[in-house]
Amino acid sequence: MKLFDVYPLNDITIVKAKGSYVWDGDGQQYLDLYGGHAVISIGHTHPHYVQRVTEQLHKVGFYSNSVHIPLQEELAARLGKVSGKPDYQLFMCNSGAEANENALKLASFHNGRKKVIAFSKSFHGRTSLAVAVTDNPAIVAPVNQTDNVIFLPFNDEEALEECFKKQGDEISSVIVEGIQGVGGIREASASFLQTISRLCQQHNAVFIADSVQCGYGRSGKFFSHDHAGVDADIYTMAKGMGNGFPVGGIIIAPHIKPKYGMLGTTFGGNHLACAAALAVLEVIEQENLIANAAETGNYLMAQLKKIRQLQKVRGKGLMIGFDLPENLKDLRKNLLTEQRIFTGEAKPNVIRLLPSLALRKKDADQFMEALQEEIQMMESSAKAVK
Ligand SMILES: Cc1ncc(COP(=O)(O)O)c(C=O)c1O
Repeated sequence: MKLFDVYPLNDITIVKAKGSYVWDGDGQQYLDLYGGHAVISIGHTHPHYVQRVTEQLHKVGFYSNSVHIPLQEELAARLGKVSGKPDYQLFMCNSGAEANENALKLASFHNGRKKVIAFSKSFHGRTSLAVAVTDNPAIVAPVNQTDNVIFLPFNDEEALEECFKKQGDEISSVIVEGIQGVGGIREASASFLQTISRLCQQHNAVFIADSVQCGYGRSGKFFSHDHAGVDADIYTMAKGMGNGFPVGGIIIAPHIKPKYGMLGTTFGGNHLACAAALAVLEVIEQENLIANAAETGNYLMAQLKKIRQLQKVRGKGLMIGFDLPENLKDLRKNLLTEQRIFTGEAKPNVIRLLPSLALRKKDADQFMEALQEEIQMMESSAKAVK
């Protein structure tokens, strides 16, 4: 059997990982500022994480939600504390798309409405409704197309006010990333998020904060939406939640009430997933990783802003993006092949940095040195060709 060929691959096989580094089969070391797409939150193979997951596996790896799983309650309590939302309710699932799917569905159950507002350049996942609220027609199959989604321009408060004025009583939910990831590290302004919050409250719509990529401490606060001082009704999470173990979840404000059978999933909240998620939160707390993300992120951003060739350096914490001029469009590829550094991208010309929240200043310095060397080499070889 062949693999279904949907991923364009870098020609690299990773066989070992530790902290912010990974190694290929030839023993070549790479600095990882991509974190397998913002997934590695506490660092690769963190000893506490390895130990907690291993110990759990020896006890019980899985049983379904037909029995008590006290680890879920332990996780909910710790998540409530670390996120600053102790009165919210946790529902666990397995991925970011599934988290958004459940959030959108729950909102619709809650207020009995069908319409969802989403924004330009949004990415919310690839399952049916999650992809329907994603602003990329190329990944929306005909079966996913629906008239229930209204796309508005990102950060446009007037358009939002206008839409609520016209059809506020039909809007079930508004879904928004605090910092758009796939869209190219574009921050929602504080006043935009505050307007969403106010309009949702006024019209009994549900404010869904997609925190799959920008959440879990990455922005220097637990949720990136926290920078705007708003409380969403539902936060969706995945990626950093399990540091590589596939676990996702939504946390739900107290006024949204559960009912048996309303949501469900076989694997969601299994013992192993809870152990992984608990280990992540324990390390985040013990090692002050949210403060580290803020501090190291500020440092890295300040260094990047000094490089004149990089345009529009932006982001928060360790979710950083910058635009590349045309002559440096191969910089990301060269960083990988020449400097052995993984970074992320966003089309057409953005480099995205999504490292572990445990990134150290010396790792940032290593990156800055390599980045400057690579830019210089690219510019001088371009001159030589002329
Ligand atoms: C903001 C956001 N939401 C949802 C998703 C979908 O998550 P998953 O790939 O785990 O389904 C992603 C994935 O990149 C994302 O960036």
